[in-house]
Order: sequence, then structure tokens, then C-alpha cells
Amino acid sequence: MSYSRAISLLPMHLAAVMALLVVASSSYTTAASLSNDEAAALLRWKASLQNQSQSLLPSWDVGSNHSYCNWAGIACDNTSRITHIVLNSIGLTGTLFSFSFSSFPHLIRFELHNNSFHGSIPAQIGNLSRLYYIDFSSNHFIGKVPSELGSLRNLQCLRLNKNNLSGSIPQELGMLTLVWNLRLSENNLTGPIPTSVWNLTNLVRLKLHDNHLSGSIPTSIGNLTNLTNLYLSRNQLSGPIPHSLGNLNSLTELSLSSNKLSGPIPSELANLTHLQIFSIGNNKLTGHLPQNLCLDGSLIRLDAANNNLTGNIPKSLRNCNSLFRVRLENNQLEGNLQEYFGVLPSLDYMDLSYNRWFGKLSEKWGQSKNLTKLGISNNQLTGNIPPDLAAATKLHFLDLSSNHLVGEIPKKLRELGLLFHLNLSNNKLSGNIPAEIFGTQSSLKNLDLATNNLIGSIPREIANCENLQNLNLGKNQLEGGIPFEIEKLQFLQSLDLGHNNLMGEIPSQLGKMPRLEKLNLSHNMLSGSIPSSFGEQPTSLTSIDISYNNLKGLLPNTKIFEDVPYEVYRGNDGLCGNQTGLIPCSSPKVRNNADKSRTKTNLVLLVVVPLVGTLFLVVVGIFLLSKRVVLKVESEIQVVRNENLFEIWSYDGKIVYKNIIEATEDFNEKYYIGRGGYGTVYKAKFSSGLVVAVKKTHPSQDDNLVDLKSFRSEIRALTEARHRNIIKLYGFCSNSHRSFLIYEFLEGGSLENKLSNKEEALRFDWGKRLNAIKGVASGLCYMHHECSPSIIHRDISSKNILFDLECVAHISDFGTARLLNLHSSNGTSFAGTFGYAAPELAYTMEVNAKLDVYSFGILTLEVLLGKHPFDLISSLSSSCSSFFSSLSSAFHGMLLIDVLDNCLPPPEDQMVEEIVVTTKLAFACVNTDPHLRPSMRQVYVELSKQRPSSESSFHTITLGQLLVINCI
Ligand SMILES: *[C@@H]1O[C@H](CO)[C@@H](O)[C@H](O)[C@H]1NC(C)=O
Ligand SMILES: *[C@@H]1O[C@H](CO)[C@@H](O)[C@H](O)[C@H]1NC(C)=O
Ligand SMILES: *[C@@H]1O[C@H](CO)[C@@H](O)[C@H](O)[C@H]1NC(C)=O
Repeated sequence: MSYSRAISLLPMHLAAVMALLVVASSSYTTAASLSNDEAAALLRWKASLQNQSQSLLPSWDVGSNHSYCNWAGIACDNTSRITHIVLNSIGLTGTLFSFSFSSFPHLIRFELHNNSFHGSIPAQIGNLSRLYYIDFSSNHFIGKVPSELGSLRNLQCLRLNKNNLSGSIPQELGMLTLVWNLRLSENNLTGPIPTSVWNLTNLVRLKLHDNHLSGSIPTSIGNLTNLTNLYLSRNQLSGPIPHSLGNLNSLTELSLSSNKLSGPIPSELANLTHLQIFSIGNNKLTGHLPQNLCLDGSLIRLDAANNNLTGNIPKSLRNCNSLFRVRLENNQLEGNLQEYFGVLPSLDYMDLSYNRWFGKLSEKWGQSKNLTKLGISNNQLTGNIPPDLAAATKLHFLDLSSNHLVGEIPKKLRELGLLFHLNLSNNKLSGNIPAEIFGTQSSLKNLDLATNNLIGSIPREIANCENLQNLNLGKNQLEGGIPFEIEKLQFLQSLDLGHNNLMGEIPSQLGKMPRLEKLNLSHNMLSGSIPSSFGEQPTSLTSIDISYNNLKGLLPNTKIFEDVPYEVYRGNDGLCGNQTGLIPCSSPKVRNNADKSRTKTNLVLLVVVPLVGTLFLVVVGIFLLSKRVVLKVESEIQVVRNENLFEIWSYDGKIVYKNIIEATEDFNEKYYIGRGGYGTVYKAKFSSGLVVAVKKTHPSQDDNLVDLKSFRSEIRALTEARHRNIIKLYGFCSNSHRSFLIYEFLEGGSLENKLSNKEEALRFDWGKRLNAIKGVASGLCYMHHECSPSIIHRDISSKNILFDLECVAHISDFGTARLLNLHSSNGTSFAGTFGYAAPELAYTMEVNAKLDVYSFGILTLEVLLGKHPFDLISSLSSSCSSFFSSLSSAFHGMLLIDVLDNCLPPPEDQMVEEIVVTTKLAFACVNTDPHLRPSMRQVYVELSKQRPSSESSFHTITLGQLLVINCI
């Protein structure tokens, strides 16, 4: 045996020896100079890279003992000709302009994946005719995809994904007949997909998603019968899905989501029986879902949400054991739901909302033991809520709202101990609210039972749900009093008990709930007076409605009831006060200082509208004027000192006070664009055409500016700050009448608007969201680390991030507006925005950059979740305490994909890794210990790193895995 082996090896040895002889004898000099030429070309290229990058290639050195064939990332053939240049993920920055393509005729593999190469891809790459593998993905290459790539007839794999390439895909790529892997995804490519691409019959993977490709998908796609992965999602492709797509029966992953595809789904797709991912959501498709989905039992993800699909869903889904996520919401699918879904053991997420399902709710859902989210709202379900639904003990989210469900709320729901969100509103549920369900639900955050026929009283046991944040029991027939135990709900933010038959007095504790922002008690039979706690400061309440009750006495003239419309207190015959529509109370103590704003408005009215100077107004006017005269001497001095104190105008057109008044017609309502915590914003257009936003700050009771010097330097720093992600402050003005700030006007609205408006949220895709986060981080990093003196924002919130039309995020509304009103020394009025303020603010007034870092963390989570992360944050902090171990394990086990904003399709490819990293960073930023939070510079650096595409299975990443030690 060994003998025959030796014989067969012999000729190879001979060949090698002969090759060496040829090299040595034929032309020693040519071979050496050729080789040196390759080494020299590499060194020239190295020398062109950014300095720091050069140090990353220490072995690339003529002085080194190694032959260049052994340099890092280089491999040669047996004649010492370079065949491989593989420099993935080593942090190189540079271009290919000094890369001498003609020096490497033997190159077969060229990989620069995940570096920071920029500039364009030179046309000479077409000379490397032996290349079979190119990977330039995850860099910053710009310019066009060179058409010369078409000459690389040996090319099998071309990965240019995740760059900034633009222009259209060259027709010439159609000549790459051997190519099986073509990835041009995540660039800015435009125009149609060239017809020649559809002739590349060796393609196995074609990923062109996340570009701006337009045009339609041609019939000839049916020729690509070897395709297993086809990703065309998030482009602007239009027209129908061709019938011939049904030929591609090797497909396992098909994603066409978020395009403008229309027309019916071709019935031929029934041939695609091996699909694991079928994603066509967010299009304008009609017709039926393909039959046979999951016929071979391998479908994992089905996304057809947000189309106009009709009819039933395939029966083959009924027992699809592999099914993990299903999104069919917002269609017109119909049928008796009971017939279509059996027990689905792997199912994690199912959203069937906004369709036309009817029939009863099957108790089988309870046997889908891995279910964490079930949404069937806005359908036509009838019958009872089956108690056995409670067997799905992993459920976090259950929304059965807006159906025709009847009967009582099953007591057994108490077994859903991980439930965060329970919405049964807008059904025909009757009976009492079972006190039992509040036994163990300490994780419940949102409970909505509104608009049913519930009777009886509000169970006191509701106080057991101590994490409750939103409670809506409105529009039922509940009676009795408001249980005073409700005060135990320390996290409650929104309480709606409107349209019931509640009686008795408003518990005084309601006015003191630390986080309550919205309170609606309208349309009940509440009596007594408004508890004095509603007048106390500080308060978190921003919206209150007590209309149509039997309340009497004084409507307190405090912040809560300041500037509220008549509608929120009308219909209480016994109320008095000096607000619109009320009769004045006879008590002389009615007026107080907080009413100064009103005083000023009235004064202006007096001056501007003399016609209305009725005797009554004159009397009132005289009364008010006399009030002003009585102002303390101290304040008078303050006012004089403030006159024209600050007028720093960096805008060269020199806007003056007068222009602002003219342009806004003295702050006329018609220029009103919004209201922030500390002021009202108007749009002002000057005759020059310049449009600005003017923020008029609410006049303060106390014009005492504590730290004029630092305030002034901050304003100056801000007017000088030039950063893409910081709104331009043109200047500001403060005098005895008014204070206002003049900002650049941005058309794109605030982050808060973007996330709360469904259509905008859909357009605000993962790429844009990550960019916005990076932008804010960049702006904050600049403010903290590059400005002198450094600027602390103090009030980062989604209200204060504004966008321009290019969707670039701008930080606005610095501490300035508030500083203008900063109440002297007691400091208690400074709290940032509720929900964004760092916890240490409860015990320290020290202002430092870590406050911004915390708010940034919250903001980041808000962008990823599509809503404020109250749930996460409270369970994050309680996960630190062993008393809440069940809650904590619930938190740790929660899947990232389930908390991400579900109005967007789940992120794919590189985006996955970025989202994972961003979430991790956000968790680090909200660490309760300010010292353990990263700095904004660390955050920004981390966010700016390029990430490789993650092949790990995104849908199994839990929040626990993303948690860098958060407890101390
Ligand atoms: C290399 O490519 C350039 C541009 O495509 C071309 O003009 C040139 O003739 C090529 N050189 C060789 C040696 O093939
Ligand atoms: C590709 O598909 C088109 C339309 O289905 C057909 O006419 C054409 O012959 C096919 N081309 C090849 C090379 O198979
Ligand atoms: C309070 O609820 C009623 C209906 O229940 C609604 O009409 C009203 O607008 C709500 N008030 C506020 C301030 O949202």
C-alpha cells in the first residue's frame, strides 16, 4: 500500500522540483523583480493608508525576516505570486486609489470586509481577471458599482453590501455567469435591477435589500431556479409579484417586504414548499396567502402584515410546529379563527389584529406554551374569553380589544404571572372586575378594560399591581368610590376612570401620585371639592379632566389648572374660580402670584384691542395694574437689570426684537407650532425669507437669575456650537416683558411625533433610527467633550430631538430655556423631563454630564421600542432586587425581538448587530449608579464602530444577555 502511494506521489514531487528549476534558471532577475514589484505595490498601498492603519500591518515591512508571502493577510501560490489579500475587520482606514491593481494579476481572493475604506472602487479592479471572491462589505465606499466588474468572468462571490454606493446596478454584472452569491444590500443604489441580473442562473443567494431600487420584478426571475435566499426588501419596487417566482422551489428565505408591490399574490407560490422565511409585509398586495405554506413543516417566520390580503389563510399553517413569529395584522383576512390555528408549540409571537376573523377564541392558544405575544384586536371574535388561555404562562402581551367578546373576565387570568400588557377594551364583557386577577400580577404595566359593560366597584386589590403604569377602566358602569388604595400605585402614569357611575370624593392622594401624568375622571358623579393636594408643587400631572361631575368649590389656580381648556372642568355646577366659564368665588383669597401670565395677556389685550375696552375690562385692568405696582421693589430692580441684558445675535442679518414681534404678529395663535415644558414655540418668517422658530418662555414668578455668568457663557457657547446634530441657536432676548430664544426652524418634527404617529413610525426604519441615535450621541459627545466650557443639556427627551427633512436628528432646547426661569436657590423646580431624569436627581442637584448619559439611554431605548421604556426601566431596576426574583427572571428571559418596535419588520443582517450593541449601550447608560455609566465619548466611539453582519439567530437574544452589570 505504501509502495503504491510513493509511486503516485512521485510525479508531483518531480513537477514541483521542475517548477523550482524553471524559476531559478529561466530568468532569475525577472522573477525577483516581479515579486519585488508585488511587495513594493503592497508597501506603496500601505503607505497611502491613514497613519494609524499602517501600524496595524507591522509585518508588512521589507526589513522583516518574512517573505511578503507570509505578511499578514497575504498568501501566494507556489511561484510566490500573490493570490490572496484578506484583511477583514482590522480597522484599516484608507482608499484603493494607490492600490496598483495591475501588480496582482494572480489575485483570486480580495477581502476588505469591515474596515473603514472610503473613496470609490477603482475601475481597474476589472483587470484582476482571476478573482473569484470579492468582499468589500461593511466599509464606506462611495460612488458607483464599477461596470468593469463585469469582466471578472471567474467571479463567484461579490459582496459589496453595507457601503454608501450609489447610482444604478451596472448591466455588465449580468456577465458574471459563475456568480452564486451577490450581495449589494444596504447601499444607496437606485434605478431598476438590470435585466441581465435575472440571467445569472447560478445565483444561490441574491441580496439587494435596503436600497432605493425601483421598477418591477420581471418574469425572468423564474430562471434563477437555484436561488435559496432572495432578499429584495425595503426598496421601492412596484408592480406585481411575477407568477414565475413560483419556479424557484429551492427558496428557503424570501423577503419582499416594505416595497410598493401590488396586485394579487400568485397562486404559483404554493410551489415554494421549503420556505423558512416568507416576508411580504408592508406592500399593497391583494389576494390570498399562498397555499402550502409550511407544508414541509419548516416555516419559521411569516410576515404579511400591512397589505390588503383577503380570504382565509392556508390550512397547512394549522399544525405548523416550526412557526415562531406570525404577523398578519392590518389585512382583510377572514374566517373562523378556530379552524385555522391548532396548537403551535414553537410560536412566540402572533399578531392577527385588524382583520375580519370571527368565531370563538380557542382555548388551544393556551397550549402554545411558548407564546409571549398574542394580538387579535380589532376583529369580530365572539364568545367568552376561555379561562384555559391562562395556560400559556409565558404570555407577556395579550390584546383582545375591539372584538365582540362577552361574559366575565376569567379569574384564571391571574395565572399569567408575566403579563405586562392586558387589553380587553371595547368588547361586551360584563360582570365585576374579578379582584382575583390582581393577586400575583406584579408585572402588569398596562391594563385596559375600558368600553365594556363592567359593573360593581373598582377592586381595592388593584393596588397589588404595584408596577401598573396605565390603567383605563373608563366607559363602563362601575360604581362606588375611587379606592384610596390606588395611591399605592407609585408608577401609575395614566388613570382613566371616565364615563362610569363613580361617587364620593376624589381621594386626596390622587393629587400626590409621584408619576401620574394623565388623570381622567370625567362623566361620573364625584362630589365634594377638589382636594388641596391638586394645588401642591411639584406635580407630575400634565393633563386632567374632571368635567361633568358634581364637584364644587374653588378650582385651584395652580399649575395643573393653568392654561387648560374649559372643557376639562365644565359640567360641574358647583365649581367657582376666575378661569373661563366659572363664576368667581366670593373668597378674597382667590388670586395668587401664579396668575401673572394671565395678567400679562390681559394687559396686552387691553393695549391691542382698545375697542373691547368695556367698563368691565377697564375695571379689571386697573385692578391688575395696581397689582403690578405692588410688586416688590426687589423685583423691580431685577426687571431693570434684565432689560436688554442678553442680546447675542449670531445671525448676520441681525434680527431685532421688533422683527420678531412683527413676524409673529405679537405671538399670534396662527403662528403657534407647539408647546414645550418651558415655553411656547412660534414660527416666524422674516421679510428676508428666513424662517426661524421662536420659543417664548413662560414668564416666571421669580426673575432672579442665579448664575448670570455661567448662563451667559452657556448661551454664547451654544450660539457658537456648530454641529450637524445640534440645532442652531441664533440668539435670544430677555427683557422685562418677554424672554425668547430664536432657533433654526426644522421641518421634520420631533422624535416624539415620529414615534407616536403610526405612518411616520413606519417610515422611520431601523437604519434611520440607528442614525438618529448616533446623531444624538455625536451631538452630546461634542457638547460634553469638545466645547469649552462643556455644555450639559439636562433635558434630553424625545420632545427635544428635532429632525430636518433629511431625517437628521438635532438636539434642541438646551437647559437655556429653563435656566431663564431657574428659580433662585431652592432648585426644586429642576427635574428634567419626567421619565428621562436620572434617579440620582432625587437626592442631588449636582449637574454633571452623567445626567445626559442617563437620559440618552432612555431616549435610545425609546427609539428602539417605539415608545418610552417605562416597563423595561422599572423591571430593570427591580431586577436588581432579589425580592422581585420572578420579575427579574421574566425580564432576563424576555426576547429582544419582542420588545423592539413591532411596527417595523424585524431588523436583518448587519442591522442586527448594531441593534444588539446599541441596546447594550443603552442599558449601560441607564445604570442607576452614575459612575458606572459610560461617557458620551465612549458611547459615540462604540456606536461608530463598523459591525460585521451577525449570523447568530437574532430571535433568541434575551435582554438578560444584553445586560452589563446594572445593579450595585
Ligand atoms: C486595466 O484596466 C484599465 C481600465 O479598465 C484598462 O484601460 C487597461 O487597459 C487595463 N490594463 C491591462 C493590463 O489589462
Ligand atoms: C428566462 O426567462 C424568460 C421568461 O420566463 C424566458 O423567455 C427565457 O428564455 C429564459 N432565459 C433562460 C436563459 O433560460
Ligand atoms: C377624558 O375621557 C373622555 C371620554 O371618556 C374624553 O372625551 C376626554 O377627551 C378625556 N379627556 C382628556 C383630557 O383626554
